[in-house]
Amino acid sequence: MMASSQEELVEAQSQIWRWALSHLVSLSIKCAIQLRIPDAINQHGKPATSLSQLVSALQIPPSKTHAFGCMMRVLSTRSTGFFSVQQRQQEEEGEEEMCYSLTPASRLLLRNEHLNQASLPLLHFHPAMRDYCSVLDTWLLEENDEGTNNDDNINKRTAFEVVNGASFWDYLAGSSGPARELKGLFYDAMVSDSKLVADALVSSAGGEGSLLFRGVRSLVDVAGGTGIVAAAVAEAYPEMKCVVLDLPHVVEGLSARPHPGNLEFMGGDMLESVPSADAILLKWILHNWDDESCVKILKCCKAAVSGDEGKKGKVIVIDMVMSEVGVEDDLSREIQLCFDLMMATLYNAKERNEMEWKGLFDAAGFSDYKIIRQIGPRSIIEAYP
Ligand SMILES: C[S@@+](CC[C@H](N)C(=O)[O-])C[C@H]1O[C@@H](n2cnc3c(N)ncnc32)[C@H](O)[C@@H]1O
Repeated sequence: MMASSQEELVEAQSQIWRWALSHLVSLSIKCAIQLRIPDAINQHGKPATSLSQLVSALQIPPSKTHAFGCMMRVLSTRSTGFFSVQQRQQEEEGEEEMCYSLTPASRLLLRNEHLNQASLPLLHFHPAMRDYCSVLDTWLLEENDEGTNNDDNINKRTAFEVVNGASFWDYLAGSSGPARELKGLFYDAMVSDSKLVADALVSSAGGEGSLLFRGVRSLVDVAGGTGIVAAAVAEAYPEMKCVVLDLPHVVEGLSARPHPGNLEFMGGDMLESVPSADAILLKWILHNWDDESCVKILKCCKAAVSGDEGKKGKVIVIDMVMSEVGVEDDLSREIQLCFDLMMATLYNAKERNEMEWKGLFDAAGFSDYKIIRQIGPRSIIEAYP
């Protein structure tokens, strides 16, 4: 091994410290959401809120103000970016104090923000999620369960299943308190993400949105959750007939809630069949499944858009297209790599690069595909039967 300089050693140690302590950043984000710090800054109404004003608004006891200040500083660095901080002179006392204001990220954590994104960070701290991450070392070494190696399903048990006794989807369907809590957080996280993506899909009426849905008279949002994206599309295109297909326990009761007249909910299994339409939407679905299941789902979708009279529709996939190895790391790639690890451990699934997407479309019998554009770390891909 080449001897490292003292400077390199110290830098390497700092790198280890940085990532070993990074859970404190995630925990601080969770704490900021739970204490509603963004709301307290927002309600203060001035461009910036001083630390003492925040302490008083949140009723932080004097013995904890130092720790609270430390947390605010962690959330206000250039790399965390949840708050911006300036040292300001206070009007009344004339003393210098740290003053905090919101950034685009903390605005998305405001309680009444239409696009609030608080559920995803909270979801990852649910005990069922937190616990499975702490067994990755033993799970990675485990070839099979109790010495049996002839049961493929046992070999394929995800880390989530090993710890929680059920696959992620079966766990969500359970009736225990923690299962109901996780289900609530998971579908809330899907709703908040879907609102943001729906805005991106349909807000550019006359532009991108209309190109994506041009000529589409009917759409099925396969595994569309509680129907946020489909509802936004249905509202933007009142002539389009829209259907949300998801598991029966997910769509149960949704028809009774207010929704556009041209939107229907349907309980079913996308691995079995998908109702016919001009276009099928698969938003954030295929990364949850292994290749074999993806091909099954895509075949059902292909059959659904193949039409009787020779008119062919399309399947719109919204998912990550992993950047190639060697491409310079950026925020999108870091997020893609973390999601890839999460998919591997939570579902035995993965994020895919373009070649892997092509492989799936070919195996399901599609004639062509096109990557339309990116939405952050995800892309919109169209596949043609
Ligand atoms: C990651 S969520 C995405 C939901 C939605 N498309 C979105 O982006 O908000 C995956 C969805 O797949 C649904 N799902 C899982 N297994 C399914 C199946 N066999 N048939 C239909 N939907 C299923 C889940 O209930 C969940 O709503």
